[in-house]
Amino acid sequence: MRKRLVAGNWKMNTDLNDGFLLLKDILNEVREAELEKCDVHIYAPFTHLKIFHNSLNGSGLMLGAQNCHQEESGAYTGEISAQMLASIPVQSVLVGHSERREYCGETNEILAKKVNTALANGLKVIYCFGETLEQRESGEHFNVVKQQLIEGVGHLTVEQWQHVTLAYEPVWAIGTGKTASAEQAQEIHEYARKIVIEMSNDGVADATRILYGGSVKPGNAGHLFSMEDIDGGLIGGAALNGESFAGIIRA
Ligand code: 13P
Repeated sequence: MRKRLVAGNWKMNTDLNDGFLLLKDILNEVREAELEKCDVHIYAPFTHLKIFHNSLNGSGLMLGAQNCHQEESGAYTGEISAQMLASIPVQSVLVGHSERREYCGETNEILAKKVNTALANGLKVIYCFGETLEQRESGEHFNVVKQQLIEGVGHLTVEQWQHVTLAYEPVWAIGTGKTASAEQAQEIHEYARKIVIEMSNDGVADATRILYGGSVKPGNAGHLFSMEDIDGGLIGGAALNGESFAGIIRA
């Protein structure tokens, strides 16, 4: 049985004060009983991580960063390394979010390096993938997803897979209010799990969590999470409010 996971990706939202208030709100809303059935991760801005680590101590929630650089260290002005994150300590990192693929030119090849560097520094990884509207409308979505998976995480060993979660985020559903139907999402999740068998083996495919992301709200989360291959959600907008984030965790 795969344990459910609900992760909040705060993106570039909240300053330190507002972020701290939101974190307190979330901690008040998320009751311990819910954490037994569902893991909860918070992917906060870099500036918040140290103070959040102190506040999350003993809460059962896992703290993550939204990105790390692919190289270990060096002359990369303005970048943050996996080792820096691990030293906070942060436990997990998002790799391959569509916004970074689109705005920062992150290719599957760069992302494969980021995954390796993150894992080598003891971080867990949520690897994001998903097609654009144009790719879906032209019927390329299965190929796009397959390529993102094979080139980004196709090289992982069975041991490394234990620290990796996948997140299917169709670009056309992110921040648009246009959720993929539970059936549309399930179709890709089932396909992605088959690709994991090809890349690794049945046991890994069975154990790997695949999250859905894209306009998840308390009202649609239950139906999405009832699908066989959907193991939880990566939440953007609805993670910026304690009550709605907790509503999704309850779902
Ligand atoms: P929304 O939930 O705002 O659509 O964002 C999804 C997302 O990109 C999470 O990483």
